[in-house]
Amino acid sequence: MSNVAVIGGQWGDEGKGKVVDVLSERFDIVARWQGGPNAGHTVRTAGKSFFLHQVPTGLLRERTMGVLGNGMVLDPAGLLEEIASLEASGFVIRGRLLISHRAHVILPVHRVLDSMAEDAGGGIGTTRRGIGPAYTAKAARLGLRVVDLQDEETIARRITAFMEGGAAAYLRETGREVPDVAAMAAECAAFGRELRAFVADTSVWINERMDAGATVLFEGAQGALLDLDLGTYPYVTSSSAVAAGLGAGVGVGPTRIDAVAGVFKAYATRVGGGPFPTEQKGEAGDLIRERGREYGTTTGRPRRCGWFDGLAARYAATVNGLTSAALTLFDVLDVFDEVPVCVAYRWRGMEIREFPAEPWVLEEAEPVYAMMPGWKSDTSQARRIEELPDNARRYIDRLSELLGCEIGLVSVGPDRAQTILGPGRFFRKILGAEAPKTAPARPAARAAGRPAKTRARS
Ligand code: GDP
Ligand code: IMO
Ligand code: MG
Repeated sequence: MSNVAVIGGQWGDEGKGKVVDVLSERFDIVARWQGGPNAGHTVRTAGKSFFLHQVPTGLLRERTMGVLGNGMVLDPAGLLEEIASLEASGFVIRGRLLISHRAHVILPVHRVLDSMAEDAGGGIGTTRRGIGPAYTAKAARLGLRVVDLQDEETIARRITAFMEGGAAAYLRETGREVPDVAAMAAECAAFGRELRAFVADTSVWINERMDAGATVLFEGAQGALLDLDLGTYPYVTSSSAVAAGLGAGVGVGPTRIDAVAGVFKAYATRVGGGPFPTEQKGEAGDLIRERGREYGTTTGRPRRCGWFDGLAARYAATVNGLTSAALTLFDVLDVFDEVPVCVAYRWRGMEIREFPAEPWVLEEAEPVYAMMPGWKSDTSQARRIEELPDNARRYIDRLSELLGCEIGLVSVGPDRAQTILGPGRFFRKILGAEAPKTAPARPAARAAGRPAKTRARS
């Protein structure tokens, strides 16, 4: 089990950061493959919380290397701030973080366009971080890449292509200021200089390291139901958040992925617009929100809260080919007399058992619940599966049945220590006696800036 992908199984914010943090001490490299600063991963350790948006969570472990893959869209200013803030907290980042020279750059004008689309009506509730416009530019071949930041002339040419490709005309027509290309280019060139030491051909580097026996944890952002292809379109993000996206987003072949772990909340949340059949708008939803502190890490928005949706979760497990699942925020449910779990939808007199693609069905679907008896006791201090009350274990077993795969980890609080292994064996294998082999340590200086023998950083 050398190389493992960790993906979100719902609509994001499942606690991927916590799960990656727990696992990452067993891996040599943690690599992200998609998204950008729309992600917000919270990790709590030794009483301190860290909020990561672009930097891989694995960098909170001393010996782990972090990679930002070519499939990402990066905001250079935000990234430099994040690096500085981690360094101020005592983490060594230089020499441990590599940024793909093929990753795309988010420009301030992308953020303006994101917000304009949101405000124009018909918005989907994006994070307004410029993610959609940056990926749109990439697909339209009007993007600016990290590699371009090393050459001011190229930067100006790429930004001009983007502005003349429609953005400038649109801004003008809507009475907005059209930003000056030369000023944008100068700013980007300055970012290029600051980021230079981190930039590498990360695909070649990661493949070489794998050949040498290094183990890689691929850290997903967002979640399967926000995936551009497989999510609840159009209420999705603009990247491939499912495990299959990682090959293209890091530049490794699918044969390199040994296992996929899905992270699911013990209930469900969604932030932003879009269908959410099990949403609870009343007291139950408020109680979940307060107990789970369900407010966005990136935007501070209150998250919509509801019950675990077995159809959506089974679908996510299927399209990701899950090996195992981690169940998080389990302690949030400790106070309920009964915990409903959605096992089917009812729509216009029909019972539906497969997660539907039709937006109108998802909008109108009424959940059919199985009522699970609550356990009404504090699980946050439990450290072994045997210490959980019987009803809590029944709930885990029911969710495992619905997912169609084992549940190998249960999280009962935000702290690293508040983690239970089992009942499934997958996480036990990684963290226990059968942990993956790690490659011999090597000097960090070689890692940054000089990734490959034949392809020096451009
Ligand atoms: P991510 O985007 O998937 O990494 O998730 P977020 O970090 O955005 O949101 C998950 C939140 O739940 C964070 O504030 C975590 O600290 C917190 N959290 C993670 N696991 C648990 C848990 O088992 N119990 C509780 N109460 N909080 C948790
Ligand atoms: P993590 O990694 C939850 C949602 C937004 C919006 C939609 C599109 O922390 O789980 P975007 O800004 O990406 O164009 O917004 O996707 N969204 C997330 N929701 N967690 C996230 O990331 C999200 N990233 C984007 O709220 O509905
Ligand atoms: Mg989050």
